Amino acid sequence: MAEQTGGDPLFESHDPIFNRKELLHVGHVPDEDRIVGRDDEIQSVAAEVGAITRGDPPNNVMIYGKTGTGKSLISRHVATRAQDAARDNDIDCGVLYVDCSEANTETRTTRQLALSLKKQTDYQQNIPLRGVGTMEYYQHIWGILEDCFDAVIVILDEIDKLDNSNILMQLSRAREARKTDAYIGVIGISNKVQYRETLDERIDSSFGHRELFFHPYDASQLREIMRNREDAFQPDVLEGGTIELCAALAAKKHGDARKAIEILKEAGELARRTGSETVSEDHIQQAQEVAEINRIEELTSGATVHAKLALYALASCIITGDRETYKTREVYERYVGICELVATDPITENGLYRQLKEQAFLGVIESEKTGGGRSQGSYLLHRLVTDPKHIVKAVRRDSSLDDLPTYDRLCETSPSTGSHDVDLTSFS
Ligand SMILES: Nc1ncnc2c1ncn2[C@@H]1O[C@H](COP(=O)(O)OP(=O)(O)OP(=O)(O)O)[C@@H](O)[C@H]1O
Ligand SMILES: [Mg+2]
Repeated sequence: MAEQTGGDPLFESHDPIFNRKELLHVGHVPDEDRIVGRDDEIQSVAAEVGAITRGDPPNNVMIYGKTGTGKSLISRHVATRAQDAARDNDIDCGVLYVDCSEANTETRTTRQLALSLKKQTDYQQNIPLRGVGTMEYYQHIWGILEDCFDAVIVILDEIDKLDNSNILMQLSRAREARKTDAYIGVIGISNKVQYRETLDERIDSSFGHRELFFHPYDASQLREIMRNREDAFQPDVLEGGTIELCAALAAKKHGDARKAIEILKEAGELARRTGSETVSEDHIQQAQEVAEINRIEELTSGATVHAKLALYALASCIITGDRETYKTREVYERYVGICELVATDPITENGLYRQLKEQAFLGVIESEKTGGGRSQGSYLLHRLVTDPKHIVKAVRRDSSLDDLPTYDRLCETSPSTGSHDVDLTSFS
């Protein structure tokens, strides 16, 4: 029966495009030797937690950076290396990783910490999955640390998704409060710059921490990252210049390594679907277009209604106006009109400004400070990084906002009609 597999002509026995496609999967964790372009960041993270390997107390660290800049990858990489280095010095160092976008409450996070500690040791006590509170999970955590570890590195990824930051206090005070003698080093990761501002208000000085910023990759780093995975494809399938083009496009838009790799994969799929034997620059261009729409949809789907309305307002200014950039005030005026359309109370101009700033950090828009002349002072000009069409489409996906005018509808009031300052209420 086994002979039949591979013999059925319905299924190709050999993939003409991909050789090791898993190298391009979103969840794929590359080997150490495939991590490139982040030496300084690796050094910096190691400098903060590295004391653990010498039996000394580590620093806590917060890592900020846009999506796809290697924050999760580098954190796990450094933590694992620290664990190995500690072992060489006879120090038992645990590594714990929690994705707080899933474990988004203190109870869930502590439960996961306790369970993964138990898994790494021969701790005998039963840890209930439900019906107990945070305190009980902490008891297990302290108990296991006390019995089995000299130190532990706790990575709290997407930490901004946690509903409160008590865990940071608990972990940083544990030694002081004599819960455990083990050293605990926390690596917190967030791609929300706003979290940084609220963090200081939320935690007290016991969580002393350093901050690191990971910057988007430039074209040459992205090129290296992709070159290192070229063997995902069959030999000679990638035409000359395709990786360079992919890197250039991705660097221009966002500098996101994950997206760059996705474009490469999508281009391969496209080539296969169309029966092409090679992946061409044309495939990359098409794949980039698809990836861009997906990227905007992902970024906006998690945004608040007001962030979406702010983006929509800027997009509609661009579509119906004759400029690419708009001042905060102009976007705000349009936004207020749009709020009326969807029967939502507008936030303040300053609130809107903060929303725009957040979107600029995420890479959906770019904001630039401009001197407005001697009498006017300086002001911010906002532009969309992407095609306004994508924004309108993505925002209207929100079922509470699908009454907003479509892209085509907005185009009907474009500059050629002579009226830029369209009264948006007339659409309703
Ligand atoms: N320096 C690098 N070398 C090789 N591959 C990389 C590098 N940086 C990122 N990647 C690849 O890009 C993917 C995204 O990286 P990572 O998950 O670390 O980003 P992130 O900054 O945590 O993003 P997010 O904020 O969206 O969680 C990784 O799975 C990895 O495959
Ligand atoms: Mg991450």
